[in-house]
Amino acid sequence: MIQKFIYGAPIQTDAVTLDIPAESGFPAYGTVSTKEGFSFSYIMAGDDIVYGLGEANRGINKRGYCYISDCTDDPEHTEDKRSLYGAHNFIVIAGEQTFGMFFDYPARLTFDIGYTRMDTLTVSCENADLSLYVIHGDSPYDIVKQFRHIIGRSYIPPKFAFGFGQSRWGYKTKEDFRKVAEGYRKNNIPLDMIYMDIDYMDSYKDFTLGKEFEDFPGFVREMKGSHIRLIPIIDAGVKIEEGYDVYEEGVQNRYFCQRTDGSDFVAAVWPGDTHFPDFLNPDARKWFGDKYRFLTDQGIEGFWNDMNEPAIFYSKEGLDEAKELARQFADSGDGRWDGAGSVGVWQMGDKLRSLANSPEDYRRFYHNMNGKKVRHDKVHNLYGSNMTRAAGEAFERIDPDRRFLMFSRSSYVGMHRYGGVWTGDNKSWWSHLLLNLKMMPSLNMCGFLYTGADLGGFGSDTTRELLLRFLALGVFTPLMRNHAALGTREQECYQFEDIEDFRHVIGVRYRLLPYLYSEYMKAALNDDLYFKPLAFVYPKDKMAVRVENQLMLGNEIMIAPVYEQNGKGRYVYLPEEMKFIKFLPDGTSSEKILGQGVHYVDIALNEVPLFIRKGKCIPVVDAAECVDKIDMEHLQMLGYGGAEYLLYDDDGVHKDYDNKKNYRTLTNIILS
Ligand code: GLC
Repeated sequence: MIQKFIYGAPIQTDAVTLDIPAESGFPAYGTVSTKEGFSFSYIMAGDDIVYGLGEANRGINKRGYCYISDCTDDPEHTEDKRSLYGAHNFIVIAGEQTFGMFFDYPARLTFDIGYTRMDTLTVSCENADLSLYVIHGDSPYDIVKQFRHIIGRSYIPPKFAFGFGQSRWGYKTKEDFRKVAEGYRKNNIPLDMIYMDIDYMDSYKDFTLGKEFEDFPGFVREMKGSHIRLIPIIDAGVKIEEGYDVYEEGVQNRYFCQRTDGSDFVAAVWPGDTHFPDFLNPDARKWFGDKYRFLTDQGIEGFWNDMNEPAIFYSKEGLDEAKELARQFADSGDGRWDGAGSVGVWQMGDKLRSLANSPEDYRRFYHNMNGKKVRHDKVHNLYGSNMTRAAGEAFERIDPDRRFLMFSRSSYVGMHRYGGVWTGDNKSWWSHLLLNLKMMPSLNMCGFLYTGADLGGFGSDTTRELLLRFLALGVFTPLMRNHAALGTREQECYQFEDIEDFRHVIGVRYRLLPYLYSEYMKAALNDDLYFKPLAFVYPKDKMAVRVENQLMLGNEIMIAPVYEQNGKGRYVYLPEEMKFIKFLPDGTSSEKILGQGVHYVDIALNEVPLFIRKGKCIPVVDAAECVDKIDMEHLQMLGYGGAEYLLYDDDGVHKDYDNKKNYRTLTNIILS
């Protein structure tokens, strides 16, 4: 049962697709105040758990910290950070009273979950203009499914997008891409995609190609000949350059975000000065979306949308202020550290550091939302979402029968219908491997099923060991991509010694692909979860409810990756008897039945572990070099004898999802 309460005059976000009549009054739980802005407070019982918040820092249980929904480009997301790239305002309180809440509010919103006071949950924002959904249900899992039902079906990518992808910021020429393709193919490491980062463009201009990419359709064909798809990046900011069609059309049609005086707002991003397309204006959205045709017409089947918080390196106004301060600093002579009476070193440093993604800049420009002028900070968290919506809606026009790959860096609930997300600029840190694991079920709760992190870590130098362990988790995340920043150690799998280990680990992804795809599709088609916390499957098991470093995947398996340096294995908690399977480097697998309880299991660096639930089985195939070459005729079953598995499969290209022919029951007849 879902109730909707409307406070003030909410801005329409289109997060919820189901029409729910609004009630007057207040939720049965906690207290709502609309006196100074909005706030909701609830006293949590000692053992209450709080789930949700999608792409957010820290644990699966969000209790004990403060999180702020405020889409932010922060590549340094250490533990103390409160805002990441997405804003997913859905939580479930589970315990003495169990209920869910979705705060449909597109600006900055604070979730103080036992941070100020250990027993108090407070959700607050500046303006009391929002829709609040309160979801009643039997269990957190039931509540999540109800929420998923009202926000609409999750995005479904083409099947090739379940393959492995290689990315790196810095590939510039056809030769660079050929080298990557060759590195993988020659070493027989499976690969389906190579991502094109900003250097494929002419001067970082969206929907252009650099000189290096003459006869691009030919190049796309060449790559496809080796079963590799090229996946270009699209950035939010449009370069200011006379004669550049996207810029000219945007200016002419007033499609860019504007200052109060009606001039187009200028922000510096990769191309230098840019304008931001007003994705909240339906006409501008359509216009920008149709630009993707430039690349789809040349054979491109997928994209990633970036810098769409939107990221701002600095604005003209911000820079002018900094320059003025610098002048005062220079004039102040002795450069005192505290700036007493003059401009000090720290003050100057702070000003420069605060130029990027400054809240002041987000108050400097406006959107045209169906004729209404809305200041950006009031709708900040919708920007990236609507960029991706622009693309998603355009793909429907470009080819309504085909699926396109699309994922975004910034997102709000509702965008899950148009694309997936990657979790932004992580680091080559062990802590980010664990964070990757913990974000997955929370993202799923908020509708984002096609998700994954930069495997190996984006910033800083990776190690062979970290990359292999990251990959062994990535084997299970729908988006499986190795991506690294410019200037970091080269981390394509063939750059390391004993390449066969990488071949094997990524090979396991392909061995499991029919199962992973089937579970993804079932989750998407039934508004269900692909990744679940153990608590959702074993709610009565007090120990399972505490586990944060293992996940249930689909209905058959549990995963427990190693996330520590020099870890030769790990402790794992089994809520019931399970079959422990290890995919071994020689292509075989080992199987062992383990009883309910805690076990220490050995997991070598080149092994991929999983646990099959009692009485269940899963299909596997032989490893293949790409998704197109997976042999679906020769499925083998792993798991318990006598068990059955309902397999979903389709052509992976079109949208004939509801066809009964897509399902077949497989039986594990071998007694084991
Ligand atoms: C941003 C993206 C990253 C990309 C880089 C250059 O930092 O998050 O993935 O490689 O920009 O385009």
